[in-house]
Parts: sequence; C-alpha cells; structure tokens
Amino acid sequence: MIKQQPKTNSQPILSVFQNNVSRPPPIWLMRQAGRYLPEYRDLRQQAKTFIDFCHSPELAVKASLQPLERFNFDAAILFADILLIPEAMGQKVVFQETKGPVLQPLNNRSDIDGLYDFNADQRLSNVIKTVQNLRLSLDSRQTLIGFAGGVWTVAAYMIQGHGKTDFSRALEWVEHRPNDLKLLINRLVEVTSRYLIAQAKAGADVLQIFDSWAGLLNNDAYERWCIAPTLKIIKAVREAVPNVPIIGFPRGNTEMLIPYILKTGVDGISLDSNVEPLWAVEHIPEGCVVQGNLDPQVLVAGGERLIKKVKELLLAFEKRPYIFNLGHGIVPETPLENVAKLVTVVREMG
Ligand code: CP3
Repeated sequence: MIKQQPKTNSQPILSVFQNNVSRPPPIWLMRQAGRYLPEYRDLRQQAKTFIDFCHSPELAVKASLQPLERFNFDAAILFADILLIPEAMGQKVVFQETKGPVLQPLNNRSDIDGLYDFNADQRLSNVIKTVQNLRLSLDSRQTLIGFAGGVWTVAAYMIQGHGKTDFSRALEWVEHRPNDLKLLINRLVEVTSRYLIAQAKAGADVLQIFDSWAGLLNNDAYERWCIAPTLKIIKAVREAVPNVPIIGFPRGNTEMLIPYILKTGVDGISLDSNVEPLWAVEHIPEGCVVQGNLDPQVLVAGGERLIKKVKELLLAFEKRPYIFNLGHGIVPETPLENVAKLVTVVREMG
C-alpha cells in the first residue's frame, strides 16, 4: 500500500468534516469529470469502450484531474462508474452513447448465484491502482473522493438491465421477490464494502455512496433496501478504516432523509435539489456535514438566476460545516463559462 500524505486540515474538505465552518466553503461538483468537458471527449477516444477507459489507470487519472486543472475544484472524484461492480461480478455491461448503460438483466436465483465475489476484487484492482496514482498526483490541499453506488441503485440496474427512469422490473422484485432481492443485495454489500475499503486504503480521503434511485422506494422498502444495507457497508468500512468520512447521497424521498442520516450514521449528506435549504438547516442533525444542492439546470441556465441561487445557498448554510455542490450530476450541455462563474462566485461571496 502507498503511504498516505498527511491529511489533517490542510484539506479544506477534511477540515469541514472536523466540524469547522469554512468560508468560502470548499466546492466540487458531482460528475465533474465527463462529457461537458471537450478535453474529456478527446481523451475518451483513446479507449474503445467506456469500461476499458475506466479500467485504464492512466486514462482514468487524467480524466479525474481535468476538471481540477480547468476549475481548481477542492476535490477530485475517482473516474469510474457505479456499474463497474456488476461488470466485475461477471454481468455483461455495455455503455451506449445514446442509451446509457445496458446490462444483461438478472432473471432468477441462478443468475445471482452465478455472480463472482472475490474474483470481482481482482477485476476492480485497476480502479484501486487509479486511486493510488491519483492521490500521488494531487497536492496536499486537494481531496480525493472515492465512491460506489448504493446497493439498491446498483441492484436496480442489474435487475432492470438498463435504466433511464423505468425500474418497474426492479420494483417488482421489491414487491414480489424479496428473497431474491435480499440475496443480491447481500452479495453487493460484501463486494461494495471491500471495494470502498480498498479505495480508502489506496488513498481516497472521503467516500461517497451514490444511491441515485433511493427515491423509487416507499418508506418501508427504503428502510430495508437503502438504509439497512448502507449501514452494513458503513460499519464494515469504519471497522477497517476508522477515520475516512463517508457522504451519503440517497436521491429522492426527502421524508426519509433524517432517518437515513440517523440510522446509517453517515458523516455527511449530499442533498438533492428538491430539498429546501432552510428546511435542511433546521432538521439535519448538527455534526452531519451538508453538501449540495444547486439544481444542475440552474447551472445550465447561468445568469442572474444562478447568482441568486448561489447566494441563497451560501446564506442558508452560513453557520454550518458545508460543501458546495450540485443536487445531482452536472449535465453534458452545461456551458463551461457557467461552471467557471460558479466557482468564482462561491469563492468571492463565500
Ligand atoms: O466526475 C465523475 O463523477 C466521474 C465518475 C463517475 C461516472 N459515473 C462516470 C461516467 C461517477 C461518480 C458516476 C456515477 C454514476 N454512474 C451514477 C450515480 C450518480 C448519478 O448521476 O446519479 C449513476 C446512476 C451511474 C450510471 C451511469 N453511468 C449512467 C446512467 C450513465 C449514462 C448517462 C450519463 O450520466 O452519462 C453512465 C455513463 C457515464 N459514467 C459517463 C461518465 C463520464 C459517460 C460515458 C461516456 O463517456 O460516454
């Protein structure tokens, strides 16, 4: 393992996790590496498939660093994808330019039994190499964020086979095949825990769990398939690497946000754009770092509306440990000048 650089609060983001109110707040953006950057689109040509790209530490390191070179964000996020886990477990996964990810859908118990466990760690070792190289490429103030998908979200793609918005097959498993779903979720908890632990040991300073489709679950299902497995992962990670802050991003279902925070014990919560900042200030427990939640479409629009929204967020979270971010990933049509403007405004007004 690579020896980690001294961390303490030379990193603005880690300082926030030590409960410091930092002004201006540190800033990074979900999905900050990717297609809205022309330099990413160029680099992407160097690998045949998106999966090959993610499995090349050389290309993945470059892609992670691109947004920092351009915008000087306070964090780099590992360049990878939440669907590398199903791929590493032996499921067929392809990323199509227009359709997004397409997977060979799981149909039955024997499909689940056929998935790999420890072989998956081996297959994911390229990503761990990327983490090591990235940490060495960043300076001591820049935070490296590792991540994985929430197991419900990953399971939903594995069952559905694709997913823009329709996850009816996955929801059918929630309703009618809870035993099969449990088997799959438990396997994903194991692989995901080991994957996140390996990322932290390789130099990730903070970990984020993207449960992008948590909002599809009703409250009972949310407890069972989002909160409970996330708690298991967090326990396993804390046991192995006690001091790495973990941010949860359970998108959707604001009603379940506080139970999620209290029951999983996340160190930070990434708010989606539907959460009212003033509600959040009042209800999110002290000691839980808040991240978010500018609407990505407001960033696309830019102009006065962007400035107004940024001001509102800075004011709402003025007295709390806070990390500026979007409420969901940056979208490919986002104008580069709006991103530059955002960073300037946050740093000047903050
Ligand atoms: O800057 C970064 O965050 C890069 C690392 C990253 C990617 N995907 C690269 C990627 C991260 C953190 C993700 C997370 C991810 N992947 C999520 C959770 C966050 C969210 O947006 O809700 C989800 C649901 C996925 C699954 C996924 N991967 C989809 C639905 C798609 C297609 C649509 C899209 O968003 O682009 C992908 C492809 C993908 N993942 C790309 C990138 C850069 C585009 C692939 C390409 O270059 O053509």
